[in-house]
Amino acid sequence: MKTTLSTLHKMKQDGQKIAMLTCYDASFASLLSDAGVDVLLIGDSLGNVIQGKSNTLAVTMEQMIYHTECVARGAKDALVLADMSFASFQLSPQQAFENAARLMAAGAEMVKLEGGMVMAETIDFLVQRGIPVCEHIGFQPQSVNAYGGYKVQGKSATEAEVLKRDALALQAAGAAMILMEMVPAHVAKTVTESLAIPTIGIGAGPDCDGQVLVLHDMLGVYPGKKARFVRNFMHGANSIQSAVESYVKAVKSGAFPADEHCY
Ligand code: KIV
Repeated sequence: MKTTLSTLHKMKQDGQKIAMLTCYDASFASLLSDAGVDVLLIGDSLGNVIQGKSNTLAVTMEQMIYHTECVARGAKDALVLADMSFASFQLSPQQAFENAARLMAAGAEMVKLEGGMVMAETIDFLVQRGIPVCEHIGFQPQSVNAYGGYKVQGKSATEAEVLKRDALALQAAGAAMILMEMVPAHVAKTVTESLAIPTIGIGAGPDCDGQVLVLHDMLGVYPGKKARFVRNFMHGANSIQSAVESYVKAVKSGAFPADEHCY
């Protein structure tokens, strides 16, 4: 059955975990959907894993649209979520709408943008115009230079409070889902419990409503540095299909992430 936004919200209510993976082309979209992945994220991580760059900042909207079209053709039952590229949404709600509409026309069913409370007005503008939004908080890769590197966010009590305040403000603005990256597990748990909308974690502990990994990381094919939150599901698997099925099973059962993948 086709996964929709209502499905994801019902999964949170029913305590069923959401399995998400990044995806960049039609063949993998079909394979991941068949293996039971609920949401396919066309992440701007394609800058790293497809283009070989050191960060996501140079990825363009044209590239995001191209990969969204490819994934949408193969996605079958999985929900298609597309990232808005750096500088495609920060200027104004109108700029965000124009670019989000291009992703929706390419086959996205929800868009994801990075930013905390500062994005509330933009979220409201998009949602009022029929575009579901997932907000990416915690470590935001497009701000890697502002952080001075890849750093866990929300570690101090004050930072954790700001993260929770941001998540509540984004929900109030109409966000359909929150993605938290590199946040201490106990902080992500508190945020998840305080929200009615689902949370998806990457390096945010086992208590989020779902998990996401970058496809090339979980298949062990990315040659770059391996983050603490990554598990290579090809270990012990005899095919890509079975590795992805193991990932889905581990997310749904709560076996992934384990303590060693958390902050
Ligand atoms: O671009 C991406 O792949 C992401 C993940 C890190 C969640 O946003």
